Amino acid sequence: IRDNAATVADYVAEYIKERILQFEPSAERPFVIGLPTGSSPIGVYKRLVAYHRDGILSFKHVVTFNMDEYVGLPRDHPESYHSFMWEHLFKHVDIPPESVNILDGNAADLQAECERYEAKIASYGGIELFLGGIGPDGHIAFNEPGSSLQSRTRVKTLAYETIIANARFFGGDVSKVPKLALTVGVGTVMDAREVVVIITGASKAIALAKCIEEGVNHMWTVSAIQTHPRSLIACDDDATLEL
Ligand code: GLP
Repeated sequence: IRDNAATVADYVAEYIKERILQFEPSAERPFVIGLPTGSSPIGVYKRLVAYHRDGILSFKHVVTFNMDEYVGLPRDHPESYHSFMWEHLFKHVDIPPESVNILDGNAADLQAECERYEAKIASYGGIELFLGGIGPDGHIAFNEPGSSLQSRTRVKTLAYETIIANARFFGGDVSKVPKLALTVGVGTVMDAREVVVIITGASKAIALAKCIEEGVNHMWTVSAIQTHPRSLIACDDDATLEL
């Protein structure tokens, strides 16, 4: 628990930097990381970019898998998760473009795209660290309330609450928010060797309480983290209001 979102971001960025450095990634053994979008990780990406700029951290042998992507939004739309990731992280660091993996929400066969993604993760021997954020309803990636805790990468209909929460990125216009997304499953996230989740702000306080003080429950999908042997929730004071 840290004072505010900025100090949480500093903590998480420092933590990830140390994990990558200690792993000593190489071409034969890259560091495979799962990454989220949303406002929560922006501060983390800023710090990681600064580490790179200062010569402390290289992404040459880092492979990334993003959690999710909207269906049907053009890749170059400012609110696509492709645009978000290049804008906030990838264009500022030395990651080879072929090491960046983001689900294609415009694939002709969405189901096949999800299967391809899972196979690609497996081809790297799985994910070393999955970084995530949550929605106010406790969803991780786009695993909305009711998602199976065993779920894999798939097409998901967004919950109305998520559509409303994300409308702020579409000029406040709910009708402009895509209604479908591709998302890794809860099972995909939990298969990572380590899971780190950022939870900040009072709007996430109920979700944090549900997820760590109540039982593991598919209505609050990030509660699955309780079953993970190596997991960390980085939160700020405001998020702990209901604990
Ligand atoms: C979207 C993403 C989630 C993210 C959530 C929270 O729903 N699919 O992966 O955790 O937004 O966003 P924010 O960090 O802006 O609160």
